[in-house]
Amino acid sequence: MTQGRPLLNRRLAEFGTTIFAEMSALAVRTGSINLGQGFPDTDGPEEIREAAVRALRDGHGNQYPPGPGIPELRTAIADHQQRRYGLAHDPDTEVLVTAGATEAIAASLLALLEPGDEVIAFEPFYDSYAACIAMAGGRRVPLTLRAPDFRPDLDALRDAITPRTRLLLLNSPHNPTGMVLTREELTTIAELAVEHDLLVVTDEVYEHLVFEGEHIPLISLPGMRDRTVSISSAGKTFSYTGWKVGWVTASAPLVAAVRTAKQYLTYVSAGPFQYAVAEALRLPDSYFDGFRADLRHKRDLLGEGLRAAGFDVYQPQGTYFITTDITPFGEKDAYAFCRALPERCGVVAVPNSVFYDDPDAGRSQVRFTFCKKEDVLREAAGRLGRLAP
Ligand SMILES: Cc1ncc(COP(=O)(O)O)c(C=O)c1O
Repeated sequence: MTQGRPLLNRRLAEFGTTIFAEMSALAVRTGSINLGQGFPDTDGPEEIREAAVRALRDGHGNQYPPGPGIPELRTAIADHQQRRYGLAHDPDTEVLVTAGATEAIAASLLALLEPGDEVIAFEPFYDSYAACIAMAGGRRVPLTLRAPDFRPDLDALRDAITPRTRLLLLNSPHNPTGMVLTREELTTIAELAVEHDLLVVTDEVYEHLVFEGEHIPLISLPGMRDRTVSISSAGKTFSYTGWKVGWVTASAPLVAAVRTAKQYLTYVSAGPFQYAVAEALRLPDSYFDGFRADLRHKRDLLGEGLRAAGFDVYQPQGTYFITTDITPFGEKDAYAFCRALPERCGVVAVPNSVFYDDPDAGRSQVRFTFCKKEDVLREAAGRLGRLAP
């Protein structure tokens, strides 16, 4: 306290340490297998790491790169959107490189919201959403995705839209549930956005991790090109989460708005890594197919282990997370379960309850990541098997 006031301002008062920091620290302290935070335990393609080393050695990106990102990367992003989705973006005006998807989300909300604007997002939400909406002075309006399918209730979405609604914040493939929006769902969402003249920010960081169905960028649907800020990043797709290279693709006016906020957050970041990610985006389809197949196999491996251990398992269609329910163990409180899990069996997981505004909705859900080596997943499954419901 100073001047009789708490140090942390009112907008952020409800936010403590992120669950990932808390659970990863617990994993280190107890020497547990960390299936909590979503980062791979093996690095991505060797040639991409070498590209980063080369850039560092050759002095590419060691000084401030251009504010919107290096031209090579912006062109590679535009080409990727064209190649994968048939989307045309001008690399000079319609692409912006950011410090991970996290900064892209923050800059988009800070740029596009006025205080009091309502933002509708599906809960459970990725934990930066609530904080970024708060920092921008917005009001979050959660729409609950419910087990077992976690499909969005689009009638509830229609009902949640008010004259104060400014923006929809969507995430598909969805962390933590693994839900992937279908073309029909996206079409309804797009129609609602057009009807109510809403902006949409789409978090697509798991675009290359869809096991059932396909990833369809909302921006590709009728009426969405000029009202969608499409966000992705290299971290998940290329297994270099520490590089924090993300991007926005959108219409030129939207990119200009987001850039205005972004330039006062970090201005620029990850200079040499931008060169490496430009090369990564040009990897052949075989890389992306192989990556997806590997993670699908790991999903099935961990899913089997969790089922055998007694969890209710909600099969994810995408991402690298599995949401489970601990009710079969006679337990109801995912947070307490996750805090005790390392001592009980040497595994760390994350309680989904912290990703909901409605604490009852996810109270007994626990999330595990499967972006780890096969033997680590087998060992974790074995340890969890000792829990015995
Ligand atoms: C849904 C979602 N969005 C954004 C991010 C953050 O992406 P980045 O590391 O590129 O900032 C994550 C990371 O876990 C995520 O799961």
